[in-house]
Amino acid sequence: MTRAQAPGKVILAGEHAVVYGRPAIAVPVWEAVATAEVRNGAAGAGCVIYALDLGKTIRLADAPHDDPLALVARLALRRAGLADDPDWRIDIASDLPIAGGLGSGAAVSAVLVRAILLHAGMEPAPELVSELTYAGEEVHHGTPSGIDNTVVAYGQPVWFVRGEPPAIFACAAPFRIAIADSGATGPTRAMVDQVRARRAADPARYDRWFDEIGEIVQAARQALEAGQPVELGPLFDRNQALLAQIGVSTPALERLMAAARAAGAGGAKLSGAGGGGNIIALVEDEAVEPVRAALLAAGAKRVLVTTVAA
Ligand code: MEV
Repeated sequence: MTRAQAPGKVILAGEHAVVYGRPAIAVPVWEAVATAEVRNGAAGAGCVIYALDLGKTIRLADAPHDDPLALVARLALRRAGLADDPDWRIDIASDLPIAGGLGSGAAVSAVLVRAILLHAGMEPAPELVSELTYAGEEVHHGTPSGIDNTVVAYGQPVWFVRGEPPAIFACAAPFRIAIADSGATGPTRAMVDQVRARRAADPARYDRWFDEIGEIVQAARQALEAGQPVELGPLFDRNQALLAQIGVSTPALERLMAAARAAGAGGAKLSGAGGGGNIIALVEDEAVEPVRAALLAAGAKRVLVTTVAA
């Protein structure tokens, strides 16, 4: 049996603007993960993927071509030099919310790729895992920037600019963020499409907002490299104000952020595509429990607290 894991992710700054060439920073979240296990099955059984958390059982021999998991599985098998349909049973589990902004689709694809390569005796290099995961993301999302597959494949903080190799990002001092799930879904493709349509109607205004987001991302990098993560708080708030202007926030998300700030968070923003999904809040040690309690009281379905280290 071969077992593999991939983390969820949050975007610290830069979502949406990253689709239009501005930088973004994303970090892995190991408190919510996807796992895959591969076992050799009976001769002639073919390759079957059981993804019960997604409500899916995929028999590779007759899966449709546009099924993202079947697509990445076939690509990974091919890279490993195997026939399309080995007699393998693959079990995938994920505790990441679907369309929740934590990179669930990318994590599930990445863990499938990693497990297949490992079971075939190959080293699952992050570049390769990221490349094959991106193929699945394209089916899900149309024109993803590539940030989600990158951070879940590398499992480390990344500085990402579309079309450029990712830079693994060094944070000089660790910090904590609370991640609160609104319980509402915000499908990435729909949110990215909505922003594209609104930008098409007023490109100058949107590009100005995207430039401002890019400046916030630069400032966030400087703060992290200087060991001053406390400066992230106001940057989260400024980034959130711009995300609200581009139309991807919701009253439920705003309620969660207001509750976190009132309970002592240094700043808060939505993370991912918005329209639902998760918010993140910067929390010093003494604020962790008050912020967690305030988020749950304000309607969060789940609160995770993660420590971001170098
Ligand atoms: C989704 O996690 C992040 C977006 O910027 C879309 C993308 O980068 O492809 C909203």
